[in-house]
Amino acid sequence: MRKQQQVWLKEHAIQAALPSLASLEPASGVVFFVEFLTQQQRLTGTAIDIGSGKGRNSFYLAKHSFEVYGIEYIQEAIDFSNKLAEQNTGLQPVYFQWGEIDKPWPFAENFFDVAIDSFASIDIETKVGRELCREEMFRTLKPGGYALVTVCSIEDEWEKEFITHSPGLEPNSTIWPENGKFQKDYDELEVKTFYRNFKLIEFKKIVKPAFKLGRSGLATNYWLLLRKPN
Ligand SMILES: C[S@@+](CC[C@H](N)C(=O)[O-])C[C@H]1O[C@@H](n2cnc3c(N)ncnc32)[C@H](O)[C@@H]1O
Repeated sequence: MRKQQQVWLKEHAIQAALPSLASLEPASGVVFFVEFLTQQQRLTGTAIDIGSGKGRNSFYLAKHSFEVYGIEYIQEAIDFSNKLAEQNTGLQPVYFQWGEIDKPWPFAENFFDVAIDSFASIDIETKVGRELCREEMFRTLKPGGYALVTVCSIEDEWEKEFITHSPGLEPNSTIWPENGKFQKDYDELEVKTFYRNFKLIEFKKIVKPAFKLGRSGLATNYWLLLRKPN
């Protein structure tokens, strides 16, 4: 098992009771994405949620009419979200399956109407792996399909400190001191350049109070709303 996976295995230790669907809070970037898709009248079709975790964003997309496919490399998180799906029939179908997002994805070209990467590809330990993930997102999206990518900025209070005191081998990366988790952070130009094969529809810098790793501070993230050209 990859070292990075061991970190996530601990994080996804199964909760005793399944939450209600109503109590699951999607990431705010995904709420923004759904609002955008609503305005565009694009709430239909298939969606992929990469690094789907316990499924909070997948279920939100399913509630908004998408047939959703989640990929995740922690089996315990997949089992958890599949149980939640079984308990909540009446939604659009939500399928969670084991997979590594930095290896070829088991989906046909132009299969998805929309894609989300909510703080998942920042966890891929190599640039080659992140490039493959980006290319798979591009390949499996339909021409004209929309994607949301959210990443941490190097201006984030916690990440700034980690990059200085516990850097990874790549620029703007870190190995979190308390658990050894790798994370790739970005400056604005770097992330825009990285996704240049997509059309950038909207870029947002989000600064908001947060409580992370035992303390309060200001979190800074970037949201990229992307479109695969026709
Ligand atoms: C920060 S969490 C975000 C989870 C979810 N996207 C959300 O916003 O709630 C990152 C997730 O990506 C998964 N992940 C990281 N690297 C992965 C990889 N190479 N393949 C599959 N899943 C991965 C982790 O197990 C974890 O569940």
